[in-house]
Amino acid sequence: MSEDIQRNLADGILELRLARPDKKNALTNAMYRALTAALAEASADPAITAVLIGGEGDAFCAGNDISGFLPANRTNDAMVFIRAIAGFDKPIVAAVQGLAVGVGTTMLLHCDLVYAAPDARFTVPFAKLGLVPEAASSLLLPQRIGQAKAAAMLLLGEPLDAESADRAGLLTAIVPADGLFAHARAKALALTALPPRALAETRRLMRGDRAAIDTRLGEEEAAFAAALAGAEAQEAFTAFLEKRAPVFTREGAK
Ligand code: COA
Repeated sequence: MSEDIQRNLADGILELRLARPDKKNALTNAMYRALTAALAEASADPAITAVLIGGEGDAFCAGNDISGFLPANRTNDAMVFIRAIAGFDKPIVAAVQGLAVGVGTTMLLHCDLVYAAPDARFTVPFAKLGLVPEAASSLLLPQRIGQAKAAAMLLLGEPLDAESADRAGLLTAIVPADGLFAHARAKALALTALPPRALAETRRLMRGDRAAIDTRLGEEEAAFAAALAGAEAQEAFTAFLEKRAPVFTREGAK
């Protein structure tokens, strides 16, 4: 387990905390691997009913660690995690405070119950970074919040604040920040009291068209890999790491 992922198993709930607060819980390859391993553990252990995901500090997750996008650091750890959470077979409850950027937002599309503090702010700035959506968000976000709202997020990179996200259907509820994690945990605990077969079947029936999600994941993975290798993304990442604004040219754009 990566030290940047805290794991606690109690009362049938596997709690996973993103714990890299000085970097706004940006996900490194090691963190993705730890999350994937934890999901596999939760799936295999009949004593675990639900997974609870939260973040330490003032942000839920600033997305993929940008340095992980650079050619020397690239692995398929993020993709493996996304496949794991998309195909996970038990309920996931999320507690979101502050920023949820990129995969910090798109992973929530695969969670069953999402509780957010009033300061939560959701962004999916893939296009701005020279990238394309991942985690089947190009399919699931329009389905969830509507095509027009999803376009503002995915094309323009516009944020949704907690109120707007709640109204749009991204959230289960907004919860005061000081009781957020306890509230999410209480809801996860409520799941453990339900008849297990009915819970599993209800969730399976609610999970939408799995084949369509798998197909879209494959399409996004191909487009993402192509974008990652392209000049636009490399300029965006270099600019972020050099703390300057990116400069994009129209040359070669279609
Ligand atoms: N990858 C790597 N480092 C990140 C990061 C990321 N995704 N997000 C934040 N950090 C780092 C910052 O570089 C900074 O590091 P430093 O203290 O060594 O300079 C630290 O985390 C704190 O972030 P900072 O930018 O100072 O906080 P902020 O509150 O001003 O802004 C964000 C927070 C999340 C808006 C901003 O950091 C950001 O835009 N991050 C990139 C988000 C992103 O594009 N993610 C990828 C989506 S695919």
